[in-house]
Amino acid sequence: MGGWLEERTGLPSALRRWCERPIPGGARWSYSLGAALLALLLVQVTTGIALSLSYSPSADTAHSSVQFIMEEAFLGQFIRSLHYHGTNFTVTFLILTAVRLVIARAYRKPREIQWLVAFALGMLVLATAITGYVLPWDQYGYWGTQVRTSIMGSGPVVGPRLKTFVLGGNELGNLTLTRFYTAHALLLPALFAVLLPVYFRLAARHGVPTPKGGAEPVVPYWPFQAARDNSFALLVLAALFGVALLFPARLGEVADPQVTYPARPEWYFLWLFQTLKYFKGPLEVVGTVVIPHAVAVVVALLPFLDRGESWSGLGRRAVLGILALIVCGWASLSALALWEDLKSGHFAELALWEATPDEGWDVEGCYKQKCAKCHGRDGAGYLDSTPDFTLPEYWKGARSDVRLIKAILKGIPNENIPEDERMPAFEKELTPGQAKAMVVWKLRPFGEASEKE
Ligand code: HEC
Repeated sequence: MGGWLEERTGLPSALRRWCERPIPGGARWSYSLGAALLALLLVQVTTGIALSLSYSPSADTAHSSVQFIMEEAFLGQFIRSLHYHGTNFTVTFLILTAVRLVIARAYRKPREIQWLVAFALGMLVLATAITGYVLPWDQYGYWGTQVRTSIMGSGPVVGPRLKTFVLGGNELGNLTLTRFYTAHALLLPALFAVLLPVYFRLAARHGVPTPKGGAEPVVPYWPFQAARDNSFALLVLAALFGVALLFPARLGEVADPQVTYPARPEWYFLWLFQTLKYFKGPLEVVGTVVIPHAVAVVVALLPFLDRGESWSGLGRRAVLGILALIVCGWASLSALALWEDLKSGHFAELALWEATPDEGWDVEGCYKQKCAKCHGRDGAGYLDSTPDFTLPEYWKGARSDVRLIKAILKGIPNENIPEDERMPAFEKELTPGQAKAMVVWKLRPFGEASEKE
């Protein structure tokens, strides 16, 4: 059997060569980061294909098809959670692997092309991640993509055109979804699938670089490194499965162009979000284009910047210095972004979006006691200034839950209304969950009841 296959494909001997390839300096756990990354990518591909079986990329159907996946499809909730958290795992291991390769200076001669291919693969992974967020068509993805594409549009010369092309027009809409879906599920994975064998080919050709401590002892990949790779990858996958089971991915409210959601970039791009705060007006391109591209170019061109042969000397120190600078800059800018959000009440605002209606709380009693004197027992309102919740037209406007919850908690300080008739703030008396319950179980039904009549 082996001989038959060997004669026709050469696969068995290629596999043997791969397994017998020498690991100079002995097996190491740090080498297994790449194996974990590969395993995670495999999970992303598998779960992605499973999701695509039920997903429908159009502005009218995307949100409800994801809802269907979560509520009705077999294992849908779990598979979506795997795919969702798998992205964070993948990006984490992408960063760790990149840092390890830079520390090991694994890009040096003759591995320049291998490094460039690895860099391209990494960029493809990031691009695939970013194009995925808009697909559920919820507020989170919609407004996040709004921000990202407007950053793209702020670029010089080609920026605006690129933005129009990516969005399929001037606004986010149906064509945005189909385009992002094509990129996310077809184009980028296809490019990845083409480049990955090239990478492996080069990796097999150049072998594992000699580590700092020297080449002794040399052990074969199988079984020493293979055992580490497999057990580490399994451990990471087990962690991912655990996270996916414990924290099911959520689906936000359906995308609504009228109601601004306080979008933030993903954690790995928070640093850029923070940087943008420092470059306003004509300097904006420095934050949106110059800095991110400069970082990418330095990383991509590392093998040509650091050509030192020996392990000591300036080359190594300079590279570690640049790496430390990038990592520290990344970490401190991200921390600063979180800190400023904490201070400005961004997370309190997010809590309104995430609020779930408080069950077992007396909605009726509260309404009678606190709201009916202005809004009326039937919700039609006594005063000229109060909105009529029983009018179907009232609910046709952009009456998102969050907007109404905000009105209830923060009040409406409308100068045109006499002080004793103004919508008061109920922040001190009601929680976001109770306000949400009020909106969903008391106010909305006013409109639905009159619609039925
Ligand atoms: C003192 C009178 C008063 C009381 C008490 C009152 N409201 Fe209001 N409410 C108003 C007025 C007036 C407005 C319209 C304000 C405006 O548009 O400037 C309003 C607006 C609202 C809105 C926003 C509607 C929109 O389209 O933005 C909601 C929601 C609301 N009230 C819910 C409640 C709830 C729930 C309670 C009880 C917990 C309550 N209100 C108690 C007077 C009152």
